[in-house]
Amino acid sequence: MLVGQERSVRASVPLPLRLENVLRRIDDAVIIVDKRHRILNINKAASKILKIQSLSPRKSVIENVHEDELKTILTKLLQYSDKKTCINLKLKIEGYSLQFFGYPLLLENEERVGTLIVIKKKPIDSKFRELRENFVANVSHELKTPLTILKGQTEVALRKERDNEDYKSILKSNLEEINRMAEIIDDLMLLSKADTKEIKLSTEDVSLKNLISDVCMNVKIFADNKGIGLIIKELEDVKIKGDELKLRRMFLNVVENGIKYTQPGGKVEISSSINNGYAQIDIRDNGVGIAEDDIKFVFDRFYRGDKSRKRESGSGLGLSISKWIAEIHKGTIEVQSRLSEGSLFSIKLPV
Ligand SMILES: Nc1ncnc2c1ncn2[C@@H]1O[C@H](COP(=O)(O)OP(=O)(O)O)[C@@H](O)[C@H]1O
Ligand SMILES: [Mg+2]
Repeated sequence: MLVGQERSVRASVPLPLRLENVLRRIDDAVIIVDKRHRILNINKAASKILKIQSLSPRKSVIENVHEDELKTILTKLLQYSDKKTCINLKLKIEGYSLQFFGYPLLLENEERVGTLIVIKKKPIDSKFRELRENFVANVSHELKTPLTILKGQTEVALRKERDNEDYKSILKSNLEEINRMAEIIDDLMLLSKADTKEIKLSTEDVSLKNLISDVCMNVKIFADNKGIGLIIKELEDVKIKGDELKLRRMFLNVVENGIKYTQPGGKVEISSSINNGYAQIDIRDNGVGIAEDDIKFVFDRFYRGDKSRKRESGSGLGLSISKWIAEIHKGTIEVQSRLSEGSLFSIKLPV
């Protein structure tokens, strides 16, 4: 009876739920082998990593791979029988390192009937390491620049007697540098609190329409001065539960970036839509764009594109903060971009 039921349940499993179809959707490489190490299931990612072009189902997984290093690691992995084993294969293939995990598949009586092998592919990005190693250098540099300006201006101001107007203009310029430093320190403190999860999030009903209109009003002068069209399309009139100040900061960062990284004469367009319980806000520009290789770094702390570093002021913290804000609101922020064509930042927030 039970067997019959089980069979009918299995027969009625819709195609997308069948194991091979589920495995196909997983980015990690997954292989299931029986106790004689023959492959029962292998997904595309795994065939690619192990370079298995035509599978011989009667042979073991080890016999199916050709590279000696892979053979050795699989042999080790399959030897273990009692616990989850993890082996780090430091194999550098085209900028990737492979991490192998083996999970013994056991019957209730502990008899081992097979193994689940998962292989994670991690990019060994010299750029990522460089970012981390440069963290202190970056902070110091970002604070040092405004400090040097402050020091220079103040020394020059004190060199001789000046009239009030001169002092006023020097103080005004000094205040700008002080504000810049304060902003960087604020951002750093916010990120460090975010890391230790010390932040209390207020939850109010925030009108998306009002918030975005407000943010755009704040940066309009910046866009006008640069000759950039700031276009607000019809905005959804919905309420978002969240921390208004933080949400404002996120939108401000992204819209400001759009203006900063777009040439005069360009445009930044903001639109919104509602899909599946989420408000999606698109901020699209036709500016300098981001190189394909750099896209994965834009949300990293202190990451700044080479050109931005030279031309625009900034600390490279804006997008990492924005990402954190989106995530604490159970939302996401994503980017699509093409160099010299423009960028699209899409923020999704639950409504
Ligand atoms: N709209 C955009 N167009 C092109 N590049 C962008 C855009 N937004 C962000 N970037 C790139 O991502 C980097 C990180 O952005 P962000 O964290 O806001 O730092 P910052 O603006 O201080 O440099 C920028 O330096 C820039 O290279
Ligand atoms: Mg920025």
